[in-house]
Amino acid sequence: MIVFKKIPALKTYLKNLRNQNLTIGFVPTMGALHDGHISLIQAATDRCDITVCSIFVNPTQFNQKSDLDKYPYNITADLNRLLDHDTDVVFIPDADEIYPEGDSYEMSYDLGGMDEILEGAKRPGHFEGVVQVVDLLLQIVGPDQLFMGQKDFQQFSIIQKMLELQESKIELVVCPIIREKDGLAMSSRNVRLTEKDRRDALQLNRTLLYIKNHIFEHPIDDVLTAAKRMLESPNMRLEYLTIVDVKTLQEVYEIKPEMKTVALIAAWVGDVRLIDNMILRK
Ligand code: PAJ
Repeated sequence: MIVFKKIPALKTYLKNLRNQNLTIGFVPTMGALHDGHISLIQAATDRCDITVCSIFVNPTQFNQKSDLDKYPYNITADLNRLLDHDTDVVFIPDADEIYPEGDSYEMSYDLGGMDEILEGAKRPGHFEGVVQVVDLLLQIVGPDQLFMGQKDFQQFSIIQKMLELQESKIELVVCPIIREKDGLAMSSRNVRLTEKDRRDALQLNRTLLYIKNHIFEHPIDDVLTAAKRMLESPNMRLEYLTIVDVKTLQEVYEIKPEMKTVALIAAWVGDVRLIDNMILRK
């Protein structure tokens, strides 16, 4: 495993590999790696000759400074995990390396409003920051395949849209959500949950399962009302729970068998904001 901090050295190294006709799989992360991230590394290792992982806590996608300040960071543990999982290249740039002229950004892609709904509405500027950094990282790494998690459903949908608008040759591979044994979706933010929060947080997955098990037999409104009731707790605050079309992310009001839909949830548990989702299939 070889670690780079600087863009020119990384580019030269990868160019050499590309000249040998080796395929490159890229896994962008913000570190605090867990089994969810590792599943992406494994998918990249399975499908590509060379696996590149970036660890960069991108300041421009945090709409609250307190969230950025509290974001877990443990580079030694991360590097050890990557070493254990056959990662070939790790890129750990400083913010100055990624944003040498400052990090202000004007989105040049017309995402058709996809970035302004759901997470985008609750976290203004978040997806501009994500698009800004992923676009830059893709230009630096130049992968054949990009690996992202279904866990951040709107994030991968927006990046897919960006790649389509760019007419990019990069293939986006979306990997399933990795959960703890009790169903909680793995997240770097889970370490901030207290014991009580951790128990309450299970309601997110339970609620999604309830929706999945009832949505094909009952009217959507009834199912969502009952599901929202499952989340009523003094320690929890629901931000949204909605069923949307997997491609457009537009809310659906009626389920038809031919539709591909996903239930999306965002909720505060204690002072930690969690998201989760479930594709709705019979
Ligand atoms: P981060 O939250 O570190 O996540 C990196 C990748 O891991 C994302 O594609 C995310 O969807 C995936 N991931 C997270 N939890 C997962 C889980 N439980 N199962 C499967 N995959 C999971 O997402 C980001 O970083 C950033 O926004 C980034 C894309 C790196 C841009 O800064």
